[in-house]
Amino acid sequence: MSLSPILERISLGKIVVIREQLMKAQAKGQKVYRFESGDPSFSVPGHVLDAIAKAGREGKTHYIPNDGIPQLREALWKKLRAKNGLALPSAEDVFVTNGAMHALFVTFASLLDEGDEVLVPDPMWTEVVENIRLAGGVPVGVPLRFEQGFEYDVAELAKRVTPRTKAIFLNTPHNPTGAVLSRATLQGIHDLAKAKGLWLISDEAYEDVLYPGQEHVSIGSLDPGYLDRVVSIYSFSKSYAMSGLRVGVIATCNAALKARIPKLLRCTINGVNSLAQWGALAALEGPQDQLQAMQREYLLRRDLMLDALAGIDGLRAFTPKGGFCLWAQLDPKLYARLGVADADELSEKLAEAGLGSAPGDAFGETCHDAIRFAFSCDTQMVREGAPKLRAFLLGAASPEATSLSTPSAALADATGAP
Ligand SMILES: Cc1ncc(COP(=O)(O)O)c(C=O)c1O
Repeated sequence: MSLSPILERISLGKIVVIREQLMKAQAKGQKVYRFESGDPSFSVPGHVLDAIAKAGREGKTHYIPNDGIPQLREALWKKLRAKNGLALPSAEDVFVTNGAMHALFVTFASLLDEGDEVLVPDPMWTEVVENIRLAGGVPVGVPLRFEQGFEYDVAELAKRVTPRTKAIFLNTPHNPTGAVLSRATLQGIHDLAKAKGLWLISDEAYEDVLYPGQEHVSIGSLDPGYLDRVVSIYSFSKSYAMSGLRVGVIATCNAALKARIPKLLRCTINGVNSLAQWGALAALEGPQDQLQAMQREYLLRRDLMLDALAGIDGLRAFTPKGGFCLWAQLDPKLYARLGVADADELSEKLAEAGLGSAPGDAFGETCHDAIRFAFSCDTQMVREGAPKLRAFLLGAASPEATSLSTPSAALADATGAP
């Protein structure tokens, strides 16, 4: 009996394996530091929870419009015009999805024909290429380089365009490196897409997680004349720490896509959880000051991690400009010092010591000698875990980093999100 062949092309993911190992250790009482997964530790703002409870009490718990409740689509449309500069003609150009992950699935499944190629950054958060494959497409990795701040190199992109190329996928701020695409780079990507008639799929899930001096630019704002070929994707998971509530967004004014997306929304989810949508509306319309508080906290954690990883022979950390992941390039001399064969084994050994990480090859073909540490867990966990990480990577893991101990307050906060 043969089962779905397309799923043979999809992996369960190395990060999930490490996460489950850490969660098992955690359940047994081992102290663990959840640097493998990116799930904001922050609480959902109180007014959002109030709006959810109110909507429940008012009986807003029945089937809702497939594409999203009109109030939320309208509020998102206004936000996308005002904040992102997307000249979308109407709220009908906005679709509410089950998180940005589902937005990626719906976008690629609406757009791609079997064998269509999509240019993607290498490294890239794995689920993007998996969703391209699920839709029958072929992800074509374009290497990003430390020396170029992990921004797309437009000349490299151009070299990989073939008659089968359908779209360029971009993600800024970028998971896993924390790169933020500059306006000039975005303009170059845009001009290439326009010259070759390619779609632009812009994942902006981390638009609000930026470090001082950085600006988020939506590629769709550069040229209203090409907006018809741009699909912009957003999430409530990072901006409002609503990761478990699962609200994402697709913005497109392309008529053919707009006719197709509702079919997939109906067949996959038949509308996002009504209460989560009322919560999302309150998040958009309510006070936004938690965004600054969150940014300050991420800055603190980022700097704790950077300090911990500074001056380690064989490890070169990139200073993230956005997002909550730290990407480090590794040199074989680090492996030799630590007695491991590669980044995969290093990640395994770190996990045995209760320290989460994600090995580079989980993110692409060109990054075997790299590792990612997420710092979206709470600040106390970063404060305690970062020195232990340093000790381990220096080859001097402290006994307490590997020993069993009782769970701390930091542990109680750890979640099992991807
Ligand atoms: C680049 C990127 N896009 C999209 C997502 C999906 O976010 P969600 O499905 O929680 O909205 C993530 C999650 O980590 C991500 O890293």
